[in-house]
Amino acid sequence: MTTIDQLSSLLNQTVTLKGWVYRLRQSKGLLFIELRDGSGICQSVIAESDVSPQQWVEATKLKQESSVEFTGLCVADARSEGGVELQVQSLEILQVADGYPITPKEHGTEFLMDHRHLWLRSKRQWAIMRIRHTIIYTIHSYFHKEGFIHMDAPIFTGNPAEGTTTLFETEYFDDKAYLTQSGQLYGEAMAMAHGKIYTFGPTFRAEKSKTRRHLTEFWMIEPEMAFYDIDMTMSLAEGLLQSVIKEVLATREHELSILGRSLDTLKASASTPFHRMPYTEAVETLKSEEMAHQLDAMLASRHDEKAQLRSEDDQLKQESGSAKKWRKVQIEQRRKEILERIAQIEEDIRNIPVWKESAATFEWGRDFGGSDETLLTMNQDRPTIVHRYPAAVKAFYMKRDPQDDALALALDVLAPEGYGEIVGGSQREESYDVLVDRIKAHDLDEEAFQWYLDLRRYGTVPHAGFGLGLERTVSWICGLSHLREAIPFPRLMGRLTP
Ligand code: 4AD
Ligand code: MG
Repeated sequence: MTTIDQLSSLLNQTVTLKGWVYRLRQSKGLLFIELRDGSGICQSVIAESDVSPQQWVEATKLKQESSVEFTGLCVADARSEGGVELQVQSLEILQVADGYPITPKEHGTEFLMDHRHLWLRSKRQWAIMRIRHTIIYTIHSYFHKEGFIHMDAPIFTGNPAEGTTTLFETEYFDDKAYLTQSGQLYGEAMAMAHGKIYTFGPTFRAEKSKTRRHLTEFWMIEPEMAFYDIDMTMSLAEGLLQSVIKEVLATREHELSILGRSLDTLKASASTPFHRMPYTEAVETLKSEEMAHQLDAMLASRHDEKAQLRSEDDQLKQESGSAKKWRKVQIEQRRKEILERIAQIEEDIRNIPVWKESAATFEWGRDFGGSDETLLTMNQDRPTIVHRYPAAVKAFYMKRDPQDDALALALDVLAPEGYGEIVGGSQREESYDVLVDRIKAHDLDEEAFQWYLDLRRYGTVPHAGFGLGLERTVSWICGLSHLREAIPFPRLMGRLTP
């Protein structure tokens, strides 16, 4: 079967393509159809003079998303996407689709989310999912090359791993179980059997806040390594992310361009060592005068941009009155973009003073919130690894810094351009006695952790690992404004369908 992504090597040959009508336009005796087949989109032309009268009649009844089979000549055409055009000689219609709900005009996000099962066919969503695939594939291949074994952690668990506030509880016969928040504790057991392992699975958090960074079901990649310390772990996270970005840049240029993703930060991130910064220094950065100045400058530039957009919009409104039909369509499209951008700017204008205040008054010892991470990374061109967080805000299993007991040997990778945390990890506490104390101090059920404590009873060793959030990574690499587009069927508070 021939697919659209093969066409550039089939010039001047007759091919048969099976797919769906993505867009169509008719002019006298001609039908222009953008055909999509999953592998790409191909401009196809049906001329009344080239097909049988009956086929022409049928072709004129086609609607968006109808399923079809076209046979025709594949010719070079610099103007069309992909550089080829199909001159249709015969066609077969599998189904003429009903009126398709998602039209080329703009739709609101909730409408699109309600139609996620169809929205996935749109060009932008198509591009994101292909980049997601490349990220997944590259993660597996990177770990395989580095000698890691892929193992699966259970999804039903009896142990909370990341605090008890975001647990999904479910019945388990006469017992109760939790949906896993992280495969880490099991990963530690696996690492003691295989040295270097990683898990790659769905994880669940009952996140009660609606933010652009949180899903209730997301995919996490969790390497765990015996005999690794925090520094080796930071280098592993950097190596993994760089290989992922390099592969996306090398093989998904077309998809990135569909998304309008600027490549500068991705290129810098792929080849330059990440920044590394102790938590204490990150706090100083937040509280610095330099940060306050940057925010003032940002606020001023947002006001300027808004004023410029408003005046452009006024001009377009005037022009629209006497414009030709095709120009009116263009104007309408541009005005929509302007309105959207203004809405974003207004949100920034409301947020910046709040961020400024919260940065200036940030107290050492607190965990960073989403907005703190935004500020720390907004002007960066590559990720920052923040390490050595206050132990009090981190998980029970993290090893304390031998240099300073108030600190945990924790690391977070913060993505640039305001994206924030995409990786969280640490060196683990390997001492049995210390760990028992921590479990008690965190008010956790000691009984449920007996198997985990066995790992410290029988041949305990220094070890470390991290969790990479897949959707956060997809979102940053694709330049998305919300995690909901980074997964085929997002699960959020208030969203369980489709
Ligand atoms: O920082 P977290 O909570 O770390 C852990 O779960 C550790 N047990 C991982 C480990 O050391 N093996 O989560 C890890 C990553 C975050 O950095 C973020 O990318 C992602 O998981 N994440 C979420 N992604 C989407 N929605 C949510 N609600 C997320 N919570 C965490
Ligand atoms: Mg974290």
